[in-house]
Amino acid sequence: MDKAMSSYEFSQPILVVENLWKKFPGVVAVKGASIKISEGEIVGLVGENGAGKSTLLKCITGVIRKDAGRIFWLGHPVDFHSPSEALKNGIMYVPQDIVLVKNLSISDNIFLGMETKPLLSIKETSRELNIAKQLLSELGIDFDPRIKSREVGVALAQITLIARALHFKAKLIALDEPTSALGPIEVDRLLDIMVKLKSRGISMIFVSHKIEEVVKVADRIYVMRDGEIVAEFNKNTFNLSEIIKAMIAREIKEFFPKEKVPIGEIILEVKDLSDYYGLVKNVSFNVRRGEILGLYGIVGSGRTETALTLIGYRYRKEGEIYVKGVRVNIEKPSDALRYGIAYLPEDWRLALVYLLTIKENMSIPILQILKKLNIGLLSPINLSAEKELALKFIETLRIAPRDPYRKAMYLSGGNRQKAALAKLLASKADILILDEPTHGIDVGTKVEIRKLMVDLAREGKAIILISSELPEVINMSDRILVMREGRIVAEFSREQATEEKIVKAAILKTS
Ligand SMILES: Nc1ncnc2c1ncn2[C@@H]1O[C@H](COP(=O)(O)OP(=O)(O)OP(=O)(O)O)[C@@H](O)[C@H]1O
Ligand SMILES: [Mg+2]
Repeated sequence: MDKAMSSYEFSQPILVVENLWKKFPGVVAVKGASIKISEGEIVGLVGENGAGKSTLLKCITGVIRKDAGRIFWLGHPVDFHSPSEALKNGIMYVPQDIVLVKNLSISDNIFLGMETKPLLSIKETSRELNIAKQLLSELGIDFDPRIKSREVGVALAQITLIARALHFKAKLIALDEPTSALGPIEVDRLLDIMVKLKSRGISMIFVSHKIEEVVKVADRIYVMRDGEIVAEFNKNTFNLSEIIKAMIAREIKEFFPKEKVPIGEIILEVKDLSDYYGLVKNVSFNVRRGEILGLYGIVGSGRTETALTLIGYRYRKEGEIYVKGVRVNIEKPSDALRYGIAYLPEDWRLALVYLLTIKENMSIPILQILKKLNIGLLSPINLSAEKELALKFIETLRIAPRDPYRKAMYLSGGNRQKAALAKLLASKADILILDEPTHGIDVGTKVEIRKLMVDLAREGKAIILISSELPEVINMSDRILVMREGRIVAEFSREQATEEKIVKAAILKTS
């Protein structure tokens, strides 16, 4: 441990984990981790992608079995065989990729697994609905619990699981990157809920790559690196740069390594692009070689929809698209790719899964090009070149483990995202649309990805950067477009742009 704890205001720990180990084929994911949590304590758990955070939480909460070590819960040794056994004992895991039973209502998802009710068979009784409503309103949400889970987004799915935890009287909730898919307003709401739960004596483990959020609500922070707990900070010793240093074992000098590169001719021009649903309204813009064009807006402002309409994934109602001065007709994502426009979807994890399963998915054309990266399907001719390419991306993006033969499904959440980015970069397109490219990525790798963007710009590629992280947009872009309600409402040059101006444009109605 780098830091000893000076004072400790909490009483007896309710959870004690001693020397926990977990191996997977080819990787030791957790190497003798020990942690403690007291009643009503929020403990942050931070670390690089692949550090072992999710694995540790899963071992504690019965999702997977540990290989060695001891877990004490409320003073007794335990080893839960399943998440439901853990939940019955008061421990709830809210995973990184939330899966609700989609055809059940919110209310059913809250009560799932309760013995008193014949499962899935009858409709909710009004009593259950009332309890569900009550639980949701305790969490500050006014929401009809009869709505089917497939209709709700990540934010409400999380809240459903938290309501479930409350219903089962959970004393410990492990939240695995709960904020990575949320917009700023939803993040604040979730952090408020966490503080509320804490005041009721509920303990929480909070995993997040957004260290500032962790620092905001946590009482203590553990830093995990390469399977081990390497540092511990308590509230009065929180220090952002110290925490980051412990995470990545090196210092980051420049979080936004933007460099000036020559800006060339217009490579993409979009005129009056509209979709059929009013989510994209008369969007016009252009982007030049060497330019990083930031696209900012609050969640729902139409940024992603614009990108998806542009690449032909969504239906275009009107609009003209010119690539290198020539008008092109893009009907589907493979057309876009043929004209050198590649899109990195917001949810890369989904993209990777889709790659394997859904034929008409936009990612298939990328897969076709990138098969070369898939070492298992290598043609003998390109063996060394392709392996070299894979290794290059593993190095640049710090994909862990550094093993080109590992299947994507066995990578940690963040590393899957990096693998998706590698696939896109290998597509050799000249126009790259990156939708939230640093979401769910650890701080060190964020910087690597930003450096990569600058390198790509220097090679003469044009980059459209869609990001909700305002400092990232401001510091990495040459020009920034702000969207609101499907329209581009403002444009700022790098010199003009300030956080205040951009937020104002993104939120305020001018009329
Ligand atoms: N089911 C599995 N099979 C094989 N290896 C796995 C499996 N799950 C995780 N790993 C490996 O264990 C290591 C730790 O992964 P883990 O998911 O715990 O990381 P993490 O800290 O949660 O990362 P992230 O921030 O990217 O979510 C990684 O090297 C990962 O590839
Ligand atoms: Mg994880």
